[in-house]
Amino acid sequence: MPRPHYIAAIDQGTTSSRCIVFDEGGHIISVAQREHRQIFPRPGWVEHDAGEIWQCVRGVLAEAVSGAGIDNGQIAALGITNQRETTVLWERDTGRPVCPAVVWQDTRTDALTRSLADREPLFRERAGLPLHTYFSGPKIRWLLDEHDLRERAERGEVLFGTMDSWLLWNLTGRHITDVTNASRTMLMNIHTLEWDDELLAALGVPRAMLPEIRPSAEVYGRTQDGVPVASALGDQQAALFGQTCFSPGEVKSTYGSGSFLLMNTGHEPVVSKHGLLTTVGYQIGAGPATYALEGAIAVTGSLVQWLRDNLGLISSAAEIETLARTVDDNGGCYFVPAFSGLFAPHWRSDARGVIAGLTGFVTKGHIARAVLEATAWQTREVVDAMNADSGLDLTTLRADGGMTADNLLMQTLADVLAVPVIRPMVSETTALGAAYAAGLATGYWPDLDSLRANWHKAAEWRPAIDEQVREREYRNWKKAVARTLDWVE
Ligand code: G3P
Repeated sequence: MPRPHYIAAIDQGTTSSRCIVFDEGGHIISVAQREHRQIFPRPGWVEHDAGEIWQCVRGVLAEAVSGAGIDNGQIAALGITNQRETTVLWERDTGRPVCPAVVWQDTRTDALTRSLADREPLFRERAGLPLHTYFSGPKIRWLLDEHDLRERAERGEVLFGTMDSWLLWNLTGRHITDVTNASRTMLMNIHTLEWDDELLAALGVPRAMLPEIRPSAEVYGRTQDGVPVASALGDQQAALFGQTCFSPGEVKSTYGSGSFLLMNTGHEPVVSKHGLLTTVGYQIGAGPATYALEGAIAVTGSLVQWLRDNLGLISSAAEIETLARTVDDNGGCYFVPAFSGLFAPHWRSDARGVIAGLTGFVTKGHIARAVLEATAWQTREVVDAMNADSGLDLTTLRADGGMTADNLLMQTLADVLAVPVIRPMVSETTALGAAYAAGLATGYWPDLDSLRANWHKAAEWRPAIDEQVREREYRNWKKAVARTLDWVE
Protein backbone atom coordinates (compact mmCIF):
# COMPACT_ATOMS: atom_id res chain seq x y z
CA MET A 1 0.00 0.00 0.00
CA PRO A 2 1.37 3.49 -0.89
CA ARG A 3 2.39 5.68 2.05
CA PRO A 4 -0.24 8.37 2.90
CA HIS A 5 0.92 11.65 1.39
CA TYR A 6 -2.00 14.05 1.60
CA ILE A 7 -4.49 15.65 3.96
CA ALA A 8 -8.12 16.20 2.95
CA ALA A 9 -10.34 18.89 4.47
CA ILE A 10 -14.10 19.27 4.24
CA ASP A 11 -15.33 22.87 4.40
CA GLN A 12 -19.07 22.71 5.00
CA GLY A 13 -20.07 26.36 4.41
CA THR A 14 -23.32 28.32 4.40
CA THR A 15 -23.92 28.08 0.67
CA SER A 16 -21.78 25.12 -0.42
CA SER A 17 -19.69 22.19 0.74
CA ARG A 18 -16.15 21.74 -0.48
CA CYS A 19 -13.43 19.21 -0.11
CA ILE A 20 -9.81 20.18 -0.73
CA VAL A 21 -6.80 17.86 -0.85
CA PHE A 22 -3.52 19.44 0.34
CA ASP A 23 0.08 18.30 0.18
CA GLU A 24 2.78 18.78 2.79
CA GLY A 25 3.63 22.29 1.58
CA GLY A 26 -0.04 23.32 2.09
CA HIS A 27 -0.54 23.45 -1.70
CA ILE A 28 -3.97 22.65 -3.14
CA ILE A 29 -3.94 19.39 -5.14
CA SER A 30 -7.65 19.18 -5.93
CA VAL A 31 -10.96 20.85 -5.06
CA ALA A 32 -14.56 19.66 -5.36
CA GLN A 33 -17.58 21.81 -4.54
CA ARG A 34 -21.38 21.44 -4.44
CA GLU A 35 -23.99 24.04 -3.55
CA HIS A 36 -27.02 23.20 -1.42
CA ARG A 37 -30.41 24.89 -1.29
CA GLN A 38 -31.07 28.02 0.75
CA ILE A 39 -34.64 27.77 2.04
CA PHE A 40 -36.40 31.04 3.00
CA PRO A 41 -39.88 30.00 4.25
CA ARG A 42 -40.69 33.46 5.72
CA PRO A 43 -39.00 36.86 6.04
CA GLY A 44 -36.05 36.48 8.41
CA TRP A 45 -36.11 32.65 8.32
CA VAL A 46 -33.26 30.67 6.72
CA GLU A 47 -33.20 26.87 6.64
CA HIS A 48 -30.99 24.07 5.28
CA ASP A 49 -31.72 20.41 4.67
CA ALA A 50 -29.09 18.55 6.72
CA GLY A 51 -29.69 15.34 4.73
CA GLU A 52 -28.94 17.18 1.48
CA ILE A 53 -25.78 18.67 3.04
CA TRP A 54 -24.53 15.22 4.09
CA GLN A 55 -25.06 13.94 0.53
CA CYS A 56 -23.11 16.96 -0.83
CA VAL A 57 -20.26 16.30 1.61
CA ARG A 58 -20.07 12.61 0.65
CA GLY A 59 -20.03 13.60 -3.00
CA VAL A 60 -17.28 16.23 -2.73
CA LEU A 61 -15.11 13.97 -0.59
CA ALA A 62 -15.17 11.23 -3.23
CA GLU A 63 -14.70 13.75 -6.08
CA ALA A 64 -11.76 15.55 -4.48
CA VAL A 65 -9.94 12.28 -3.77
CA SER A 66 -10.44 10.96 -7.29
CA GLY A 67 -9.68 14.45 -8.73
CA ALA A 68 -6.28 14.30 -6.99
CA GLY A 69 -5.61 11.03 -8.79
CA ILE A 70 -5.18 9.17 -5.51
CA ASP A 71 -7.09 6.70 -3.37
CA ASN A 72 -8.25 6.86 0.26
CA GLY A 73 -5.16 4.95 1.36
CA GLN A 74 -3.07 7.99 0.47
CA ILE A 75 -5.05 10.32 2.73
CA ALA A 76 -3.22 10.59 6.05
CA ALA A 77 -6.14 12.32 7.76
CA LEU A 78 -9.42 14.12 7.15
CA GLY A 79 -10.23 17.46 8.79
CA ILE A 80 -13.60 19.18 9.12
CA THR A 81 -14.50 22.85 9.21
CA ASN A 82 -18.01 24.20 9.06
CA GLN A 83 -20.52 27.03 9.10
CA ARG A 84 -21.05 27.63 12.80
CA GLU A 85 -24.21 27.92 14.96
CA THR A 86 -26.54 26.33 12.36
CA THR A 87 -28.66 23.94 14.37
CA VAL A 88 -29.45 20.35 13.37
CA LEU A 89 -31.70 17.99 15.36
CA TRP A 90 -31.78 14.30 14.44
CA GLU A 91 -33.04 10.97 15.72
CA ARG A 92 -30.46 8.81 17.47
CA ASP A 93 -32.05 5.57 16.19
CA THR A 94 -32.41 6.37 12.51
CA GLY A 95 -29.86 9.19 12.09
CA ARG A 96 -32.57 11.18 10.28
CA PRO A 97 -33.08 14.94 10.84
CA VAL A 98 -36.39 15.59 12.64
CA CYS A 99 -36.85 19.13 11.28
CA PRO A 100 -35.14 21.59 8.94
CA ALA A 101 -31.77 22.91 10.13
CA VAL A 102 -32.06 26.51 11.37
CA VAL A 103 -29.24 28.56 9.85
CA TRP A 104 -27.09 31.02 11.79
CA GLN A 105 -28.58 33.96 9.81
CA ASP A 106 -32.15 33.10 10.88
CA THR A 107 -33.88 35.67 13.13
CA ARG A 108 -36.97 33.67 14.19
CA THR A 109 -35.81 33.63 17.82
CA ASP A 110 -35.90 37.44 18.09
CA ALA A 111 -38.89 37.54 20.50
CA LEU A 112 -37.48 34.61 22.50
CA THR A 113 -34.09 36.25 22.99
CA ARG A 114 -35.72 39.57 23.93
CA SER A 115 -37.82 37.77 26.55
CA LEU A 116 -34.58 36.58 28.20
CA ALA A 117 -33.03 40.08 28.31
CA ASP A 118 -32.55 40.04 32.11
CA ARG A 119 -30.14 37.07 31.70
CA GLU A 120 -27.85 38.98 29.32
CA PRO A 121 -25.04 39.46 31.92
CA LEU A 122 -25.01 35.69 32.61
CA PHE A 123 -24.57 34.83 28.91
CA ARG A 124 -21.90 37.49 28.40
CA GLU A 125 -19.87 36.36 31.39
CA ARG A 126 -20.21 32.56 31.03
CA ALA A 127 -20.59 32.06 27.28
CA GLY A 128 -18.72 35.19 26.13
CA LEU A 129 -21.65 36.03 23.85
CA PRO A 130 -24.47 38.57 23.75
CA LEU A 131 -28.03 37.24 23.90
CA HIS A 132 -28.85 37.09 20.19
CA THR A 133 -30.67 35.08 17.51
CA TYR A 134 -27.27 34.23 15.90
CA PHE A 135 -26.31 31.45 18.32
CA SER A 136 -27.55 27.84 18.55
CA GLY A 137 -29.08 27.80 22.06
CA PRO A 138 -32.18 29.87 21.27
CA LYS A 139 -32.63 27.95 18.00
CA ILE A 140 -32.65 24.62 19.88
CA ARG A 141 -35.21 25.97 22.35
CA TRP A 142 -37.43 27.19 19.52
CA LEU A 143 -37.29 23.84 17.69
CA LEU A 144 -38.01 21.81 20.85
CA ASP A 145 -41.05 23.98 21.59
CA GLU A 146 -42.45 24.34 18.07
CA HIS A 147 -41.89 20.71 17.00
CA ASP A 148 -42.91 19.28 20.37
CA LEU A 149 -39.60 17.45 20.82
CA ARG A 150 -38.66 18.27 24.40
CA GLU A 151 -39.57 14.91 25.97
CA ARG A 152 -37.76 12.94 23.30
CA ALA A 153 -34.73 15.21 23.71
CA GLU A 154 -34.80 14.65 27.49
CA ARG A 155 -34.71 10.89 26.87
CA GLY A 156 -31.73 11.35 24.51
CA GLU A 157 -33.76 10.11 21.52
CA VAL A 158 -33.37 13.42 19.66
CA LEU A 159 -29.84 14.79 19.39
CA PHE A 160 -28.48 18.27 18.75
CA GLY A 161 -25.40 19.17 16.78
CA THR A 162 -23.88 21.98 14.76
CA MET A 163 -22.66 20.93 11.29
CA ASP A 164 -19.37 19.53 12.64
CA SER A 165 -21.35 17.15 14.91
CA TRP A 166 -23.71 16.19 12.14
CA LEU A 167 -20.79 15.30 9.84
CA LEU A 168 -18.82 13.55 12.59
CA TRP A 169 -21.91 11.48 13.44
CA ASN A 170 -22.28 10.42 9.83
CA LEU A 171 -18.55 9.84 9.27
CA THR A 172 -17.60 8.12 12.54
CA GLY A 173 -20.85 7.25 14.36
CA ARG A 174 -19.84 9.36 17.40
CA HIS A 175 -21.93 12.17 18.90
CA ILE A 176 -19.23 14.78 19.54
CA THR A 177 -18.43 18.42 18.81
CA ASP A 178 -15.26 20.45 19.06
CA VAL A 179 -14.65 23.21 21.55
CA THR A 180 -14.73 26.04 18.96
CA ASN A 181 -18.15 25.02 17.69
CA ALA A 182 -19.41 24.46 21.23
CA SER A 183 -18.33 28.03 22.08
CA ARG A 184 -20.99 29.31 19.62
CA THR A 185 -23.97 27.55 21.20
CA MET A 186 -24.43 29.89 24.25
CA LEU A 187 -24.48 26.68 26.30
CA MET A 188 -20.77 26.18 26.97
CA ASN A 189 -18.90 27.89 29.81
CA ILE A 190 -15.89 29.37 27.98
CA HIS A 191 -13.77 29.27 31.13
CA THR A 192 -14.25 25.55 31.93
CA LEU A 193 -14.98 24.42 28.33
CA GLU A 194 -17.93 22.35 29.59
CA TRP A 195 -21.70 22.55 29.15
CA ASP A 196 -23.02 24.86 31.87
CA ASP A 197 -26.11 23.84 33.88
CA GLU A 198 -27.24 27.44 34.45
CA LEU A 199 -26.99 28.30 30.77
CA LEU A 200 -28.84 25.08 29.87
CA ALA A 201 -31.59 25.91 32.39
CA ALA A 202 -31.89 29.53 31.19
CA LEU A 203 -32.51 28.29 27.62
CA GLY A 204 -34.43 25.11 28.56
CA VAL A 205 -32.06 22.77 26.70
CA PRO A 206 -31.77 19.17 28.02
CA ARG A 207 -28.20 17.96 28.55
CA ALA A 208 -29.09 14.48 27.19
CA MET A 209 -29.31 15.84 23.63
CA LEU A 210 -25.87 17.50 23.62
CA PRO A 211 -22.69 16.09 22.06
CA GLU A 212 -19.51 15.46 24.01
CA ILE A 213 -17.07 18.41 23.75
CA ARG A 214 -13.64 17.42 22.40
CA PRO A 215 -10.46 19.34 21.41
CA SER A 216 -10.26 20.73 17.84
CA ALA A 217 -7.47 18.33 16.86
CA GLU A 218 -7.40 14.65 17.83
CA VAL A 219 -8.31 11.40 16.08
CA TYR A 220 -12.10 11.19 16.68
CA GLY A 221 -12.61 7.99 14.68
CA ARG A 222 -12.29 6.62 11.15
CA THR A 223 -14.37 6.82 8.01
CA GLN A 224 -15.76 3.60 6.47
CA ASP A 225 -12.66 3.61 4.26
CA GLY A 226 -10.39 3.74 7.30
CA VAL A 227 -9.27 7.39 6.99
CA PRO A 228 -8.68 9.00 10.43
CA VAL A 229 -11.02 11.93 11.07
CA ALA A 230 -8.70 14.16 13.06
CA SER A 231 -9.95 17.76 13.32
CA ALA A 232 -13.05 19.89 13.63
CA LEU A 233 -13.14 23.67 13.90
CA GLY A 234 -15.74 26.32 13.20
CA ASP A 235 -14.84 27.88 9.85
CA GLN A 236 -13.67 31.22 11.22
CA GLN A 237 -11.46 29.62 13.83
CA ALA A 238 -10.10 27.32 11.12
CA ALA A 239 -9.22 30.38 9.01
CA LEU A 240 -7.39 31.90 12.02
CA PHE A 241 -5.40 28.65 12.21
CA GLY A 242 -4.89 28.46 8.44
CA GLN A 243 -3.54 32.03 8.44
CA THR A 244 -1.11 30.80 11.16
CA CYS A 245 -2.28 33.47 13.62
CA PHE A 246 -0.76 31.47 16.49
CA SER A 247 0.53 34.43 18.56
CA PRO A 248 -1.54 36.81 20.69
CA GLY A 249 -2.39 39.98 18.74
CA GLU A 250 -2.43 38.31 15.29
CA VAL A 251 -5.58 39.05 13.27
CA LYS A 252 -7.29 37.64 10.17
CA SER A 253 -10.49 38.57 8.36
CA THR A 254 -12.39 36.11 6.18
CA TYR A 255 -14.77 37.27 3.45
CA GLY A 256 -17.47 34.69 2.70
CA SER A 257 -21.27 34.97 2.87
CA GLY A 258 -20.59 36.92 6.07
CA SER A 259 -17.25 38.28 7.27
CA PHE A 260 -15.45 37.50 10.46
CA LEU A 261 -12.43 39.24 11.93
CA LEU A 262 -10.66 37.28 14.68
CA MET A 263 -7.76 38.23 16.92
CA ASN A 264 -5.77 35.61 18.83
CA THR A 265 -5.82 36.67 22.52
CA GLY A 266 -3.77 33.79 23.99
CA HIS A 267 -4.79 31.36 26.73
CA GLU A 268 -7.15 33.65 28.68
CA PRO A 269 -10.59 34.71 27.43
CA VAL A 270 -10.84 38.51 27.04
CA VAL A 271 -14.30 39.93 27.67
CA SER A 272 -15.20 42.60 25.10
CA LYS A 273 -16.47 46.04 26.14
CA HIS A 274 -17.10 47.11 22.54
CA GLY A 275 -19.52 44.58 21.06
CA LEU A 276 -17.13 41.79 20.06
CA LEU A 277 -17.53 38.09 20.88
CA THR A 278 -15.25 36.09 23.13
CA THR A 279 -14.75 32.71 21.55
CA VAL A 280 -12.46 29.68 21.55
CA GLY A 281 -9.88 29.88 18.74
CA TYR A 282 -8.61 26.30 18.87
CA GLN A 283 -7.43 23.53 21.17
CA ILE A 284 -4.82 21.08 19.92
CA GLY A 285 -5.07 17.70 21.67
CA ALA A 286 -4.80 17.93 25.45
CA GLY A 287 -3.08 21.36 25.25
CA PRO A 288 -4.66 24.55 26.64
CA ALA A 289 -7.33 26.35 24.63
CA THR A 290 -6.36 29.47 22.70
CA TYR A 291 -9.03 32.18 22.75
CA ALA A 292 -10.00 34.87 20.27
CA LEU A 293 -11.96 38.10 20.08
CA GLU A 294 -14.29 38.12 17.09
CA GLY A 295 -16.08 40.78 15.09
CA ALA A 296 -18.85 38.94 13.24
CA ILE A 297 -20.58 40.61 10.28
CA ALA A 298 -23.67 38.76 9.06
CA VAL A 299 -23.96 39.93 5.46
CA THR A 300 -21.14 40.66 3.00
CA GLY A 301 -20.76 38.09 0.18
CA SER A 302 -24.42 37.11 0.58
CA LEU A 303 -25.32 40.70 -0.37
CA VAL A 304 -23.58 40.13 -3.72
CA GLN A 305 -25.59 36.91 -4.13
CA TRP A 306 -28.77 38.79 -3.26
CA LEU A 307 -27.99 41.31 -5.99
CA ARG A 308 -27.58 38.37 -8.39
CA ASP A 309 -30.47 36.14 -7.27
CA ASN A 310 -33.12 38.54 -5.96
CA LEU A 311 -32.54 41.63 -8.14
CA GLY A 312 -30.85 40.06 -11.19
CA LEU A 313 -28.47 43.07 -11.47
CA ILE A 314 -25.51 40.77 -12.17
CA SER A 315 -25.41 37.23 -13.51
CA SER A 316 -22.39 36.01 -11.53
CA ALA A 317 -20.87 37.14 -8.23
CA ALA A 318 -17.59 38.06 -9.96
CA GLU A 319 -19.46 40.60 -12.12
CA ILE A 320 -19.94 42.91 -9.14
CA GLU A 321 -16.40 44.23 -9.59
CA THR A 322 -16.91 44.94 -13.31
CA LEU A 323 -20.18 46.73 -12.59
CA ALA A 324 -18.70 48.76 -9.73
CA ARG A 325 -15.80 49.83 -11.97
CA THR A 326 -18.24 51.47 -14.44
CA VAL A 327 -18.40 54.44 -12.00
CA ASP A 328 -15.82 56.40 -10.01
CA ASP A 329 -17.57 56.46 -6.64
CA ASN A 330 -20.81 55.55 -4.85
CA GLY A 331 -22.74 58.55 -6.26
CA GLY A 332 -23.89 59.43 -2.72
CA CYS A 333 -25.45 56.02 -2.08
CA TYR A 334 -24.88 53.76 0.98
CA PHE A 335 -26.20 50.22 1.40
CA VAL A 336 -26.49 48.77 4.91
CA PRO A 337 -27.38 45.06 4.50
CA ALA A 338 -29.02 44.44 7.89
CA PHE A 339 -30.82 41.37 6.49
CA SER A 340 -30.28 39.37 9.69
CA GLY A 341 -30.39 42.45 11.90
CA LEU A 342 -26.98 43.92 12.68
CA PHE A 343 -24.23 41.82 14.24
CA ALA A 344 -20.98 43.26 15.66
CA PRO A 345 -20.61 45.75 17.15
CA HIS A 346 -24.34 46.64 17.29
CA TRP A 347 -26.14 43.34 18.04
CA ARG A 348 -29.56 44.61 16.98
CA SER A 349 -31.75 41.81 15.64
CA ASP A 350 -34.57 44.31 14.96
CA ALA A 351 -32.49 46.26 12.39
CA ARG A 352 -33.53 46.02 8.73
CA GLY A 353 -31.53 46.80 5.58
CA VAL A 354 -31.55 50.22 3.91
CA ILE A 355 -30.21 51.87 0.77
CA ALA A 356 -29.71 55.52 1.75
CA GLY A 357 -28.92 58.59 -0.35
CA LEU A 358 -30.87 57.66 -3.50
CA THR A 359 -31.28 60.32 -6.21
CA GLY A 360 -32.12 60.12 -9.90
CA PHE A 361 -28.39 60.18 -10.57
CA VAL A 362 -27.76 56.77 -8.99
CA THR A 363 -27.16 53.88 -11.42
CA LYS A 364 -26.69 50.18 -10.89
CA GLY A 365 -22.94 50.85 -11.00
CA HIS A 366 -23.25 53.10 -7.92
CA ILE A 367 -25.32 50.44 -6.16
CA ALA A 368 -22.62 47.84 -6.97
CA ARG A 369 -20.00 50.17 -5.48
CA ALA A 370 -22.13 50.74 -2.36
CA VAL A 371 -22.43 46.94 -2.04
CA LEU A 372 -18.64 46.52 -2.00
CA GLU A 373 -18.19 49.51 0.29
CA ALA A 374 -20.69 47.99 2.73
CA THR A 375 -18.22 45.14 3.32
CA ALA A 376 -15.38 47.61 3.88
CA TRP A 377 -17.30 49.90 6.27
CA GLN A 378 -18.64 46.99 8.29
CA THR A 379 -15.02 45.80 8.62
CA ARG A 380 -13.98 49.29 9.75
CA GLU A 381 -16.61 49.19 12.52
CA VAL A 382 -15.27 45.90 13.91
CA VAL A 383 -11.63 47.02 13.55
CA ASP A 384 -12.45 50.14 15.61
CA ALA A 385 -14.01 47.88 18.27
CA MET A 386 -11.02 45.51 18.17
CA ASN A 387 -8.55 48.40 18.57
CA ALA A 388 -10.56 49.76 21.50
CA ASP A 389 -10.81 46.35 23.23
CA SER A 390 -7.19 45.34 22.73
CA GLY A 391 -5.61 48.77 23.21
CA LEU A 392 -3.54 48.04 20.08
CA ASP A 393 -3.95 49.57 16.63
CA LEU A 394 -4.26 47.12 13.75
CA THR A 395 -1.21 47.52 11.52
CA THR A 396 -2.05 45.16 8.63
CA LEU A 397 -5.06 43.04 7.73
CA ARG A 398 -4.60 39.44 6.57
CA ALA A 399 -7.65 38.86 4.40
CA ASP A 400 -8.89 35.58 2.91
CA GLY A 401 -12.03 33.91 1.57
CA GLY A 402 -13.87 33.97 -1.76
CA MET A 403 -14.48 37.73 -1.89
CA THR A 404 -10.76 38.52 -1.73
CA ALA A 405 -10.56 37.67 -5.44
CA ASP A 406 -12.23 41.10 -5.92
CA ASN A 407 -9.33 43.55 -6.30
CA LEU A 408 -11.56 46.62 -6.01
CA LEU A 409 -12.84 45.35 -2.67
CA MET A 410 -9.27 44.79 -1.47
CA GLN A 411 -8.30 48.37 -2.43
CA THR A 412 -11.45 49.74 -0.80
CA LEU A 413 -10.64 47.85 2.41
CA ALA A 414 -7.14 49.36 2.51
CA ASP A 415 -8.61 52.84 1.87
CA VAL A 416 -11.28 52.53 4.53
CA LEU A 417 -9.08 50.92 7.21
CA ALA A 418 -6.03 53.09 6.46
CA VAL A 419 -3.75 50.02 6.78
CA PRO A 420 -2.23 47.67 4.18
CA VAL A 421 -4.36 44.64 3.28
CA ILE A 422 -2.55 41.37 2.51
CA ARG A 423 -3.79 38.31 0.67
CA PRO A 424 -1.87 35.07 1.28
CA MET A 425 -0.83 32.65 -1.47
CA VAL A 426 -3.45 30.10 -0.37
CA SER A 427 -6.67 32.08 0.07
CA GLU A 428 -8.53 28.87 1.03
CA THR A 429 -7.35 29.33 4.60
CA THR A 430 -10.49 27.84 6.14
CA ALA A 431 -9.95 24.39 4.65
CA LEU A 432 -6.20 24.79 5.14
CA GLY A 433 -6.72 25.41 8.88
CA ALA A 434 -8.76 22.21 9.23
CA ALA A 435 -6.09 20.33 7.26
CA TYR A 436 -3.33 21.76 9.49
CA ALA A 437 -5.15 20.71 12.67
CA ALA A 438 -5.78 17.18 11.31
CA GLY A 439 -2.15 16.97 10.19
CA LEU A 440 -0.88 17.99 13.63
CA ALA A 441 -3.14 15.42 15.32
CA THR A 442 -1.71 12.61 13.20
CA GLY A 443 1.95 13.69 13.08
CA TYR A 444 1.80 14.62 9.36
CA TRP A 445 3.17 18.05 10.35
CA PRO A 446 5.43 18.13 13.41
CA ASP A 447 4.64 21.53 14.94
CA LEU A 448 3.28 25.06 14.49
CA ASP A 449 6.60 26.35 13.10
CA SER A 450 6.41 23.93 10.18
CA LEU A 451 2.98 25.42 9.36
CA ARG A 452 4.20 29.01 9.65
CA ALA A 453 6.86 28.23 7.06
CA ASN A 454 4.06 27.51 4.54
CA TRP A 455 2.53 31.02 4.78
CA HIS A 456 3.46 33.33 1.87
CA LYS A 457 2.15 36.74 0.83
CA ALA A 458 0.57 36.83 -2.63
CA ALA A 459 -0.54 40.47 -2.92
CA GLU A 460 -0.77 43.69 -0.91
CA TRP A 461 -2.96 46.81 -1.23
CA ARG A 462 -1.99 50.14 0.37
CA PRO A 463 -4.32 52.96 1.42
CA ALA A 464 -4.73 55.49 -1.41
CA ILE A 465 -7.46 57.94 -0.41
CA ASP A 466 -7.38 61.27 1.33
CA GLU A 467 -7.92 61.19 5.10
CA GLN A 468 -10.74 63.80 4.90
CA VAL A 469 -12.62 61.82 2.26
CA ARG A 470 -12.28 58.65 4.33
CA GLU A 471 -13.67 60.24 7.48
CA ARG A 472 -16.50 62.05 5.65
CA GLU A 473 -17.57 58.75 4.04
CA TYR A 474 -17.41 56.99 7.41
CA ARG A 475 -19.70 59.63 8.93
CA ASN A 476 -22.17 59.11 6.07
CA TRP A 477 -22.01 55.35 6.56
CA LYS A 478 -22.81 55.73 10.25
CA LYS A 479 -25.83 57.91 9.42
CA ALA A 480 -27.07 55.17 7.07
CA VAL A 481 -26.57 52.57 9.84
CA ALA A 482 -28.67 54.70 12.22
CA ARG A 483 -31.50 54.54 9.68
CA THR A 484 -31.69 50.72 9.94
CA LEU A 485 -32.87 50.95 13.55
CA ASP A 486 -36.14 51.61 15.35
CA TRP A 487 -38.65 51.67 12.57
CA VAL A 488 -40.11 48.12 12.44
CA GLU A 489 -43.45 47.86 14.31
O1 G3P B 1 -20.86 32.07 12.04
C1 G3P B 1 -21.23 31.81 10.73
C2 G3P B 1 -20.04 31.45 9.88
O2 G3P B 1 -19.39 30.35 10.44
C3 G3P B 1 -20.44 31.24 8.43
O3 G3P B 1 -19.34 31.26 7.61
O4 G3P B 1 -18.14 31.22 5.47
O5 G3P B 1 -20.22 29.90 5.70
O6 G3P B 1 -20.31 32.40 5.63
P1 G3P B 1 -19.53 31.19 5.98
